[in-house]
Formats: sequence, structure tokens, C-alpha cells
Amino acid sequence: MVKKNKILLIHGPNLNLLGRREPGIYGRTTLAEINRQVRKLSKKLKVALTIVQSNYEGKIVDLITASKGKFCGILINPAAYTHTSVAIRDAVIACGIPVVEVHLSNIYCREEFRRHSLISPVARGTVMGFGPQSYLLGLEALLSLT
Ligand code: DQA
Repeated sequence: MVKKNKILLIHGPNLNLLGRREPGIYGRTTLAEINRQVRKLSKKLKVALTIVQSNYEGKIVDLITASKGKFCGILINPAAYTHTSVAIRDAVIACGIPVVEVHLSNIYCREEFRRHSLISPVARGTVMGFGPQSYLLGLEALLSLT
């Protein structure tokens, strides 16, 4: 039995560069600061949170497919893989636990190639456009599903 409220947060490629990467789009908040905010909310909501950042598609696939039986939900910012990864989409379908997709920016306001997410149709929901707040809203939404 998975302990209720065990959540996996996955940050996709290049999110380790937040704070200095395109600050006009993603802001100046670092990944460490986002993680601090999410951990603070998790503590308040009594969530046991595991956080992983990876630049590798296969690693993200492995994390998602191994999550069944370990976590009761996944919060993921797939970053650039949002727009390209059939493998991550298939893993989300296969994992059998609720997945909520988050983005810092509103991908529909951006370049044409970012306006399509392969993940959204297979996620339980998507939160985007609110900067670091997207993660906090996404976590609360995910908990309502577990
Ligand atoms: C992003 C949007 C993606 O298009 C981009 O590749 C990212 C970050 C976001 O959080 O706004 O790396 O997922």
C-alpha cells in the first residue's frame, strides 16, 4: 500500500538553469527556491515529497514507470520534452497514478512549436503561466485527486 500523500515532483531538462535562463520568460527564481516553496507547502499539507530534476528523457521515463506502488501521484514539468516526447506520454499512460503537468510560462502565448503538449491529453490536468506558483497550485490540485 502506498502511503497517501507520497508525491513525486519531476523537473525536466534545463530547469536546473532557472534564475539565469531566459529570466524575461522564466523569472529570476532559481530551482532551489522553487523546491523550497514546494517543500514548505508539502509540509503544511503533510505531503512526503520526493524531488528529481533530469535532463535525460529515458531517466524521466524510468522514474514515471517505477512510481506505481511508490507514490500516489506525480507532479511534472516536462520542460522541452512536453513538445516532443511520445516516450514520456506513454509512461504517463502506463504508470496508472494521477499525473499533473505544470509549466512556469503559458505555452500558448509562446512560439508555435511550444503551443502543443503531448502530455496534456494524458495528464489529469495542467497548470501553466503562473511562474513558481504553477507548482504550488499543481500540488494542491494533485492532492485533490489522490
Ligand atoms: C516550460 C515551457 C517549455 O516550453 C520549455 O521548454 C521549458 C519550460 C515552462 O515551464 O514554462 O523548459 O516547461
